[in-house]
Amino acid sequence: MSQAIASALSDNATANPRNGAGAPSGYIAYIVFRYSSDASAAKRGPLTTDEITVWAGTLLAEIGGIDAIRAAFGEIIAAKGKGQLVTSIATYEGVPRSVLEHGAELITTPLTAEYGIDLDAMAAKISNKTTATYVCNPNNPTGNMVDPVKLRAFAIEAAKTAACFIDEAYLHLCDDYDANVMTSLLREGHNVVIGRTFSKIYGMAGQRLGYGIAKPELAKQMGMATRMGGVNHLGIIAAMASLADKDFVPAMQPKFKAGRERLYNIVKGLGRKVASNPQASFVFFEVGMPNSAFAAKMMAEGVRVVGRSWPGYDAWTRICVGEDWELDRCETALKKVLALA
Ligand SMILES: Cc1ncc(COP(=O)(O)O)c(C=O)c1O
Repeated sequence: MSQAIASALSDNATANPRNGAGAPSGYIAYIVFRYSSDASAAKRGPLTTDEITVWAGTLLAEIGGIDAIRAAFGEIIAAKGKGQLVTSIATYEGVPRSVLEHGAELITTPLTAEYGIDLDAMAAKISNKTTATYVCNPNNPTGNMVDPVKLRAFAIEAAKTAACFIDEAYLHLCDDYDANVMTSLLREGHNVVIGRTFSKIYGMAGQRLGYGIAKPELAKQMGMATRMGGVNHLGIIAAMASLADKDFVPAMQPKFKAGRERLYNIVKGLGRKVASNPQASFVFFEVGMPNSAFAAKMMAEGVRVVGRSWPGYDAWTRICVGEDWELDRCETALKKVLALA
């Protein structure tokens, strides 16, 4: 297994499985070799079907809980309180929260009319004070994506000032992975960080396993800050099993798609404002009452929804797709609760 992960992440199949010698990333090697021992998986294929294997030695990838990676990124770009992050409102809190914890400035831009991330607005906020930008794509909680041509142009421009973090936690769920994946920016040498996790399409939330891909200098700094990120043996075993199951991702994609489209149509049918074109595992929409009141009413109908709210969107909620029977029950509850809103 150790050899397989090393080759998956680095394409260096000749790395020494005991001490990691020869692997481009000492961190991957350390974690993998420290926590695994199953040599039977040594011949396994690459981590994903995308370009990771092509990066041979030009990049240092760091494996660990993605939260640890984001926190490390936040700590670094916070620059001891002197840094500044530019991101969107209503996005995943990981990096923004970490930046604030380290006393740096957080600049957020409003959503577009379609309730998506506004890259133009973000670009307009970048200045010589900016130490990073963060784009979650598909975005959590809105579920929609930015235009890939625009994102590419934005990242290239933003990276001239400071590292641009593109969070691809949900990317495997979207309709067109190939058109939206941004890893090529790294191969071209731009100062971009890509974040991935096994928590979403692979359903491994709680196992704390994900990876970041960055330019070697930044990855090394992040490696120092994550202090190995709390990777555990069970998570690695589960990740390896997930990667070996080549049919899994293509089998799950249509299920997520059918679920989010059904949910989207339900809330649209109820006349709610809803974030356009959901591409992840949830739908974000307006409920006409404080999020907490909505969650309580849904609970009374036997449906638990995330009671979280995002600044400026207190009367909105995010509901995740489930099995058909769960969506049946959710639909019935939504019709009752929102009819009164
Ligand atoms: C955009 C995004 N990135 C990352 C994560 C979490 O990843 P992990 O479970 O690997 O910490 C989440 C979880 O909700 C998320 O929404």
